[in-house]
Amino acid sequence: MSLSSHEHPHGVKTVIVPAAGMGTRFLPATKTVPKELLPVVDTPGIELIAEEAAALGASRMAVIVAPNKQEVMRHFGQFPNLVETLSERGKDEQVAKVQRANQLIQPVAVEQAKPLGLGHAVGLAESVLDDDEDVVAVMLPDDLVMPFGVLEKMARVRAELGGSVLCAVNVSPEEVSNYGVFDVEEIAADSDLPAARVKRVVGMVEKPDVDDAPSTLVATGRYLLDRAIFDALKRITPGKGGEIQLTDAIELMITEGHPVHIVVHEGKRHDLGNPAGYIPACVDFGLSHPTYGPALRKAITEILAEHDAAEHDAGEAVRTTS
Ligand code: UTP
Repeated sequence: MSLSSHEHPHGVKTVIVPAAGMGTRFLPATKTVPKELLPVVDTPGIELIAEEAAALGASRMAVIVAPNKQEVMRHFGQFPNLVETLSERGKDEQVAKVQRANQLIQPVAVEQAKPLGLGHAVGLAESVLDDDEDVVAVMLPDDLVMPFGVLEKMARVRAELGGSVLCAVNVSPEEVSNYGVFDVEEIAADSDLPAARVKRVVGMVEKPDVDDAPSTLVATGRYLLDRAIFDALKRITPGKGGEIQLTDAIELMITEGHPVHIVVHEGKRHDLGNPAGYIPACVDFGLSHPTYGPALRKAITEILAEHDAAEHDAGEAVRTTS
């Protein structure tokens, strides 16, 4: 399906959503449930991503799936029997919940036979692009970047400075070793873009020691990539962990003079890819939920009080015996 550009206000027709990883940090749940389908309150992460892609004005979501993770695509099906049964019972609110994913965006499955890396996964999506697409967005379904809208800002930076634009967040120095860290320089002083939020990338260092980190600006799962990325992906060799790394292809483009900038996101970010990030995301979304929020707040307060009391008692016991 070829769609004209006026239907894509930010110039992005296709969003690539790599979802073929093994999800090892979420075992044993991911033996049978793809991590992209784990619910944040009641909505799977992949549906939240589809919502963000639709808000950007994209019309196609190329989902990279593993052969054993077809359930991810099934979530975007129509479920006529379920809709019929719910409608007969007058459950209109639930009908809307069932139909929502299907109505957000057109999903297209691209199979990645083996998890050969994020770069390899992204490269496979070239096969679904139209000839007139000179830019694609990549959204990692592990990463919730809130509120929506950062890709729109990134599109404005590309419109002014060209090339590719990545999303960054500022973390504390102790945290840099967990991330890909940007080496940046300032943009031209006469630019209309906000210098505090937009920087030019001169390099990237993957999970550096604190003392070697070039900045505290780290990569998040939002990329606006020039179509040249597909050529770069074909020219790199396997990197860290023997995988084809997206960052290696971006590095190659930087060394060849392709402009790469970051937009520093100032809102929230949740990493759904491991329990340590997923649980706070559920708490955050749960507290904001009109139905569950008040009861959850009460429950959390009680749980905290119980834990504090247990810790206090344990401390007392140690003091008494010593
Ligand atoms: P991650 O490294 O966060 O996902 O990749 P993973 O490999 O599933 O996680 P762990 O380390 O085993 O727990 C970032 C994104 O890239 C996708 C993943 O599905 C995730 O959304 N990915 C990664 C692929 O689609 N294919 C790959 O070969 C690797």
